[in-house]
Amino acid sequence: MGKAPQNQIIGAVPINIKQGEKMETDKKKVVLAYSGGLDTSVAIKWIQEKYNMDVIALTIDLGTEKDLNPVVEKAVKTGACKSMIIDAKEVFVYYFVFPALQAGALYENAYPLATALGRPLIAKLLVDTAKAEGACAVAHGCTGKGNDQVRFDIAIHTLDPSLQIIAPLREWNMTRKESMEYARMNEIPIDVSTQNPYSIDENIWGRSIECGILEDPWVEPPEDIYKWTKNANDAPDKPTYIEIGFENGIPLTLNGQERGGINLINELNKIAGDNGIGRVDHIENRIVGIKSREIYESPAAIVLYKAHQALEEIVMTKDTHRFKGMVSTHYSDMVYNGLWYSTFHQDLAAYILSNQRFVVGTVRLKLIKGNCIVVGRKSPLSLYDHSLATYDTGDTFEHDAAIGFIKIYGLPTKTQAQIQLKALKKGEVIPSIMPPKVAPTNVMEK
Ligand code: ARG
Repeated sequence: MGKAPQNQIIGAVPINIKQGEKMETDKKKVVLAYSGGLDTSVAIKWIQEKYNMDVIALTIDLGTEKDLNPVVEKAVKTGACKSMIIDAKEVFVYYFVFPALQAGALYENAYPLATALGRPLIAKLLVDTAKAEGACAVAHGCTGKGNDQVRFDIAIHTLDPSLQIIAPLREWNMTRKESMEYARMNEIPIDVSTQNPYSIDENIWGRSIECGILEDPWVEPPEDIYKWTKNANDAPDKPTYIEIGFENGIPLTLNGQERGGINLINELNKIAGDNGIGRVDHIENRIVGIKSREIYESPAAIVLYKAHQALEEIVMTKDTHRFKGMVSTHYSDMVYNGLWYSTFHQDLAAYILSNQRFVVGTVRLKLIKGNCIVVGRKSPLSLYDHSLATYDTGDTFEHDAAIGFIKIYGLPTKTQAQIQLKALKKGEVIPSIMPPKVAPTNVMEK
């Protein structure tokens, strides 16, 4: 069915490379996943001091509003021997985001997995770059209590078990204050955003915000943490209607116009965000056993999941739909738990690919003050048969056949009642399923 551009991928190629003043040495090299923030900047210096290695800074663009060019400069200024950006947005969308959408992967029915989906791709690019640069190690800026360290380490060692993994934040045990002091001592520039009390990860599929006051699950998130979504109160009073067209469970059109994946997601982030849609406040179960409070902003993801689900309802048989739900749960756990490069994933992916063949059609949604409401769906492969469903004229359903059906369908329950329910003594019946008698009131007789 269809021809979703799943395999027409533009390779992830480095788009911006800067060499440090230092010439090539015979020191060992490490490729560091570099964001330009305080922690990974401090990491450049720290790795040089502690491991005496040359640091290659790799900044990966999975879709951010931030201008990444200054980040490349900053890495070299901070001491990296080489610094580069890889624009991996296209690969991210077609190899990670859309497959997860097809799979219906919402972790614990809430989180569209933006951060979790990005990690295995970053890991792969670290491994590829290490190979290309002749590095023996890779490094990331994860702490020792989050999910991301698990995802990075498992993915890296699944792809190349020979690589050494350095995780400065997990190893150095500095508080934020101490890292700032270390930065000052080593003349690493600290920008204002470093004062931000929140830990934020961002890519085209969503923003993940944690720490600070958000750690109190009783406190309403302050308005200033949000960047992509309006407060529903401030959203327009008039609804915005949109139509999304899918093939193979992949969104291809917006309001009838064909769109590339990146463009479609960007546009939906804007439209839905303006209508106050996409905020998720979630107490989630981390891999390492901790419950944590996470705030997400994922306007496009929330709209696309809604639309995709609505389309599945109309094209899937009851059994397929039920089973897909179970697969979705396993798939989202698999992604969240960092098992992207497992063969378990391959098994699930094979099922999803088959399962999505008939997910073609269009969904109409109404966006209004924080609500995303499905108001219409249609598909050339719809299983919805109006002549079977209607209560009006034109009904083709065989009503008489229902009587025979009910007899046979109800037979086991009737048989069991005669034999087993009858055999139960008083007090052996589970009380909650047998309601007490309720006496009539207002009785009138003629
Ligand atoms: N809890 C989410 C996850 O594990 C998001 C973590 C994002 N990290 C951050 N620095 N906010 O996928």
